[in-house]
Amino acid sequence: MALVKISELLKKAQTGDFLIGAFECWNYESAIAIISAAEATKSPVVLFTGGPGVKLLGIRNLVRMMLDLAENAEVKVACHLESVDDIGVLLQAIKYGLKSVIYDGSELLLEENIKNTKNLVSAAHSEGAEVEAQLGSMPFSESGVGYENIDFFKHKTKVEEAQYFISRTGIDVLAPNLGNVHGLYKQKIQNLDLDLANSLAEQFGLPITLHGGTGIPDEIIEEAKKSKISMMYLATSIFENFRICTKLNIDTKSGYGSTSDIAALCRDNLKTYIMGKLNFLGSYKFET
Ligand code: 13P
Repeated sequence: MALVKISELLKKAQTGDFLIGAFECWNYESAIAIISAAEATKSPVVLFTGGPGVKLLGIRNLVRMMLDLAENAEVKVACHLESVDDIGVLLQAIKYGLKSVIYDGSELLLEENIKNTKNLVSAAHSEGAEVEAQLGSMPFSESGVGYENIDFFKHKTKVEEAQYFISRTGIDVLAPNLGNVHGLYKQKIQNLDLDLANSLAEQFGLPITLHGGTGIPDEIIEEAKKSKISMMYLATSIFENFRICTKLNIDTKSGYGSTSDIAALCRDNLKTYIMGKLNFLGSYKFET
């Protein structure tokens, strides 16, 4: 069991009627909640981190913490770093032992995105690490404000552009925009272009991931499980779960030791939430 490369999880998930879950951690409690939920449901899992974790713990401590937990887990765990603004941080994470990172240059001009991604891929591959890249920018709104009139399909990934991008960069995993967005939003998406996901997977032979898991209706996720998408990312709803739990318990608990009691309660609460998500994604089918 224990620490595996992300491609090992994603390749098998491409053909099964389930999704691998990728959940964001930013501290020890969230990371433990994710791993113990995976163990309790006998599911492989992707433990990923990003800007908030780097800011809180620093890249070295964060990577060491994640790898240590993964190495000692009873299930397969891949550790992954979400795109941060600075490619230098992604390279540092690889230096400290991380075996996969995401680069999001989708806001850049295509040629600049290609140049950065290609350089990162070459450095990562020389250390035995893998690179996921995002193509087709995905707006982010934690609160959903400003999404009222958004055209979800405006930034959808184009097949010809993907072909050009993949052949020039040599990426290992593709995160296309299928009409998905990050964060919470009131005007929820009614569909995702799963045909696009299937044709990208078939044409290029790369694992396909689905970002922006928060707020995607269950019936769409059911369809995504049957598609060639391998994995779904979840972040905003996890932060929200932990924040609400902390707020409730700060209002009711006080005294010496209450801080660690609150942290433990919120860790266990998050574990239960993630167990529900993993069961819904059907990740346990990986081992069958
Ligand atoms: P959400 O914040 O919408 O769950 O998306 C997470 C994500 O895609 C991380 O890249």
